[in-house]
Amino acid sequence: IKKITTHQIQAMKDRGEKISMLTAYDYSMAQLIDSAGVDIILVGDSASNVMAGHETTLPITLDQMIYHASSVIRAVNRAFVVVDVPFGSYQGNSSEALRSAIRIMKESGAHSVKMEGGAEIKESIIRVLSAGVPVMGHLGLTPQSIYKFGTYSVRAKEEEEAEKLVSDAKVLEECGCFGIVLEKIPADLAKRVAEEVSIPVIGIGAGPHVDGQVLVMHDMLGITKEFKPRFLRQYADVGSMITEAVGSYVKDVKSKDFPNEKESY
Ligand code: KIV
Ligand code: NA
Repeated sequence: IKKITTHQIQAMKDRGEKISMLTAYDYSMAQLIDSAGVDIILVGDSASNVMAGHETTLPITLDQMIYHASSVIRAVNRAFVVVDVPFGSYQGNSSEALRSAIRIMKESGAHSVKMEGGAEIKESIIRVLSAGVPVMGHLGLTPQSIYKFGTYSVRAKEEEEAEKLVSDAKVLEECGCFGIVLEKIPADLAKRVAEEVSIPVIGIGAGPHVDGQVLVMHDMLGITKEFKPRFLRQYADVGSMITEAVGSYVKDVKSKDFPNEKESY
């Protein structure tokens, strides 16, 4: 199988082929989604929510991200793997950012990293890129800044924040980022960004006029039941399948139906 590279991801934008991206945090699920043909696998710090049960992405550590990333990497044959640099491990200065990015690359075998923010983290992005590590940007509703925003509602609805976002996207492009995630912003603004920068723009809750889409796997599979924002399309009800299967197992154990003679030695 041919592995996806940043060059192929750029070529997809250039020829108008939409890019598919999905999160994964463990070996078994990464194997399933890689073989299903997803272009980019994101080891998101959303692991803090869906894997660890935290309310925000802030608590997850660099060591924990490396654990998730190395599990995913062992499963992947085709997809390009991006790993989130977690909160608190890059905002300090560019040396801290470089040290964290290098730890992720060396210890997990990941292909690239993603960091949240625009002009504020420009020096860090340049430093990480100069070490040969591809960087993906992330603008809009950046969950590591949730306590600054105070709400998970749509970002950049007002002119000022929208202009700052467009200018940040251009900064990310100039720095040399290979792509940008835009989270929960108006579709028209995302369209403008995708037109004004030449690098791929991947949206989540950013409408259809971008170069690709990303979702959190557990959300699109119907495993995280409570989370139903308007941007989410649920492709399966895996949560109910698991609950039913486990219910049947419990019933069979209790009724002594399991194991039967054929299932015994
Ligand atoms: O952590 C994550 O899952 C993400 C995506 C929502 C883009 O950053
Ligand atoms: Na993230």
